[in-house]
Amino acid sequence: MQSAKVAKIITVVGARPNFMKAAPIIAAMGKHNERAAGGEAGALVLQNVLVHTGQHYDEAMSDRFFADLNIPKPDVHLGVGSGSHAAQTAEIMKRFEEVVLKERPDLLIVVGDVNSTLACALVAGKISYDASGKRPLIAHVESGLRSFDRGMPEEVNRILTDHLADLLFVTEPSGIENLSKEGVSGSKVHFVGNTMIDSLLAFKHKADQSPILNQLGLREESRANSTNGTARYALLTLHRPSNVDQRESLLDILEGLDELAASCPIIFPAHPRTQKRITDFGLEHFFRREAGSRNGGKSHSDSAGGRIRLVDPLGYLDFLCLMGNAALVVTDSGGIQEETTCLGVPCVTVRENTERPITVQVGTNVLAGTAKENIRRATRQQLGSKAAKSAPQGWDGKSAERIVELVHREIRKKHSS
Ligand code: UD1
Repeated sequence: MQSAKVAKIITVVGARPNFMKAAPIIAAMGKHNERAAGGEAGALVLQNVLVHTGQHYDEAMSDRFFADLNIPKPDVHLGVGSGSHAAQTAEIMKRFEEVVLKERPDLLIVVGDVNSTLACALVAGKISYDASGKRPLIAHVESGLRSFDRGMPEEVNRILTDHLADLLFVTEPSGIENLSKEGVSGSKVHFVGNTMIDSLLAFKHKADQSPILNQLGLREESRANSTNGTARYALLTLHRPSNVDQRESLLDILEGLDELAASCPIIFPAHPRTQKRITDFGLEHFFRREAGSRNGGKSHSDSAGGRIRLVDPLGYLDFLCLMGNAALVVTDSGGIQEETTCLGVPCVTVRENTERPITVQVGTNVLAGTAKENIRRATRQQLGSKAAKSAPQGWDGKSAERIVELVHREIRKKHSS
């Protein structure tokens, strides 16, 4: 039997929201390779080089996710770390260019909208392997999402990455429409569904066994206020620069949560950026720091307020467990709007816009904006709501398989041209 031909791919991850989007693609490439090794006619073996830029580097923001999602150890770690947008993007580009020139992949996969996504797409878009200008194909997973807010760094990253990409993998119908309006050729655009939901469906059962509810004492609350032995609680995440980098904005949001905090515990796994701002702005009186959180687990339970329970960022499985059992999720994250849609958990998004309109149209999401009165109104309304579980089209756990099939097809086409 002839041995199968090999195609080389580089898959890039850099920051926390990348890991759950890339994990199922890496797993699907493994399955594809089993079939290719089994002699499937014409199948290329996809040799994947996993590159971690190091944009996120804390154990809780990175390593933990590799363990939780069974992602193999990166083949290359660029160790870039934090910096201004320009410094971080430039440093990733410099280091990634060397990797691309050494590996000369057929195709690059970038996911989401973080600085690592754009930086690596930009490198691949301009590189040339030889005098003919040969370069890798660029595949962008989660294409076409638009908040129409250029003040968001992620919006700039999305637009530029999409316009560099040769293969655009779209998660929801709005993506197709947005790309078409921007003049992107429909032949490059593929509606594949949502790989982050692939991860959710694959790991939900394991997440249900997480000890986090017991660890946070959420199984011990009064039965009168509980469902299935789990206390009624809300889950909060906040990390957008526009929400947390200015004292007045953060203060407004925290005050907008006072009514909710009075009616049930709020668990707040806080991003390192947000924890730093809370300290800088002297807003610690809103929180009760759980042991093990940054600042040495100092308790602020004796100060005024202190109703929001602040914990360090959690791993994927613990967070998924907390999300699935929450009565309400309040967030400014993009991905959490989608995950709560699938879990059927009411969500209040503390932003003026969303690049994921499907979560509002068919899902469980309400856009509250950031004014305190609006946050109070939205949390009141959503806390009592009975959200139905909803699976937008293509959010079926098979998105990564579709992506790998399309990637394989495009590389074969390129090899034979
Ligand atoms: C990044 C993404 C954002 C994503 C978020 C999820 C961009 C433009 N933003 O924002 O889209 O929703 O990740 O978490 O790419 N820090 C640590 N440890 C870490 C990483 C960061 O302490 O492992 C601190 C540093 O002080 C750093 C700050 O967090 O300066 C911000 O990190 P950065 O990667 O610049 O952006 P995020 O806010 O995490």
